[in-house]
Amino acid sequence: MVLSCFDFRPPRNRIVLNELEFPSVRYLYQALRDSGAELVVVPSDDGIRVPTERMIEAIDERTLLVPFSHVLYRSACIQDVAAITAGAHRMGAYVVLDTYHSAGVLPLDVHGLAVDFAVGGVLKWLCGGPGAAFLYVRPDLRAHLKPRLAGWQAHRRPFAFEGEMDLREDAWRFLTGTPQVPALYAARPGLEIINKVGVANIRAKSVRQTSLLVELARERGWRINSPLDAAERRELRFAYRPSPAAVTGNRLGHEALDVGVLFSHAQNAAIAENHEGGVAVARSTAYIEPSFALVPAGP
Ligand SMILES: Cc1ncc(COP(=O)(O)O)c(C=O)c1O
Repeated sequence: MVLSCFDFRPPRNRIVLNELEFPSVRYLYQALRDSGAELVVVPSDDGIRVPTERMIEAIDERTLLVPFSHVLYRSACIQDVAAITAGAHRMGAYVVLDTYHSAGVLPLDVHGLAVDFAVGGVLKWLCGGPGAAFLYVRPDLRAHLKPRLAGWQAHRRPFAFEGEMDLREDAWRFLTGTPQVPALYAARPGLEIINKVGVANIRAKSVRQTSLLVELARERGWRINSPLDAAERRELRFAYRPSPAAVTGNRLGHEALDVGVLFSHAQNAAIAENHEGGVAVARSTAYIEPSFALVPAGP
């Protein structure tokens, strides 16, 4: 929807993104080369982070868009939203912030940071399911953009089903056609729980628990593919969400958010803090995959 608001013809046709962005995102921007876009891919030295200064240096007066993740999916590295956004704005470029891996676990003030666009889905740390996604567009920018992909929900008189588009001025302007009603219902409980617990509390818990994990992993000589400094690290690809135990009410369930369980894809629990005060670390197949955050060293 965002991309359908722009033309990718020179002279302002550059898209600056880093090499650690999620594949679907990269593919989407690569496909725009056929429409005239020029991609500038900023490299990483360590596969964990991309230096902020390097990102900013790559942005120039030919740059139209700077899509970047708040948290890099591979390493859980938190990127400097304020600095990259300010760098883009100095050159007259727009940022598209991907919050897939931060929404629900990391406080974010899109207004304060003046991001132009923020996108995300409820699939991960918002504890929803597939099919529900969200888009934020800076309010003062909204009315100047004409999304080519808008559908009947974006029309001023949606149920008149008129032949010509008459775009609304508000955020509904960016809607498509028929909404995914079941997906929206599936998204609600997770959002309610997160609002109740509070993102700041989830973040504090995450820092505490991932710091413990880092300590335990280092004791065992495991390699950590995430920043070691908690301020730069969102998670070790662990989530603090109510575990299935909470739902079934078994003995771990009484303090669901205290059970640091579950990689987002839920293959295996890798750490469980038990309520006798001990910590159990289980070797988990999820983390043998070398592209993820925590892997045992050696063969
Ligand atoms: C950073 C990031 N952006 C976007 C997406 C959404 O991609 P897709 O809709 O192809 O699953 C994901 C999904 O995992 C992601 O990790």
